[in-house]
Amino acid sequence: MDYAKKIILAIDETSIDRIRTIVESTSKYISTYKLGSIPFTAHGPILVREIIDMGKDVFLDLKYFDIPNTVSKAVEQAINLGVRMITLHAMGGEEMLKRAVEVNSGRSMLFAVTILTSMENSQLSLIGMRGDVEDMVVGLAKMAVNTGIDGIVASGRETSLLRESFGRKPVIVVPGVRMDNNSRDDQKRVVTPRTAFESGADYIVIGRPVTESRYPEKVLEEIIQSCELYK
Ligand code: C5P
Repeated sequence: MDYAKKIILAIDETSIDRIRTIVESTSKYISTYKLGSIPFTAHGPILVREIIDMGKDVFLDLKYFDIPNTVSKAVEQAINLGVRMITLHAMGGEEMLKRAVEVNSGRSMLFAVTILTSMENSQLSLIGMRGDVEDMVVGLAKMAVNTGIDGIVASGRETSLLRESFGRKPVIVVPGVRMDNNSRDDQKRVVTPRTAFESGADYIVIGRPVTESRYPEKVLEEIIQSCELYK
């Protein structure tokens, strides 16, 4: 497997110079950059176009979560920007996802975010959810897959379960990736790159361990090596 193409780099930065430096220093290994609410709020569509003009793909991670009309029109705008991947919250509901799938009609890839990797069981009851993370992830994924969405975003801890439930078809993207299984920041349901791929992830998303390193290229090399050693 060409692991380099399977690693999506999350750029959660505001400075345009920092963003350019990160892209330049990682370009050898990364073909898709994930832009979320931080860089998009700071720089908007201009940044998306700049990265696409550099010959890279953009994963627009704005996690749309609104009424179906609003989301389908926002998705249309995202598609017009030329992004390759787009996220929506599965919790926005079946109708919202269906309308997005219809408007997309296969132009971009749409991903339903299940339960954020920063959440764990103890937090679910506080927002009124019954059941544990695994039940919620599988339940939301089931609804999302039935709408014809391209893929699911979940933690690597649920990937095997998702593959057992839905087979090979949905594309699975796994954020919350760390070089060991310990969480040192806001991410809670973390896994290593190797575990993510072994349990069935198609793509991993990693940000700070790479972007905050003094040697981002070296961290990426380590990630690729840690996967290839065990293939
Ligand atoms: O720096 P870190 O590796 O934690 O970055 C993970 C990225 O993936 C962040 O940009 C975060 O917004 C995003 N993400 C996530 N969990 C999800 C969906 C997206 O961490 N369920």
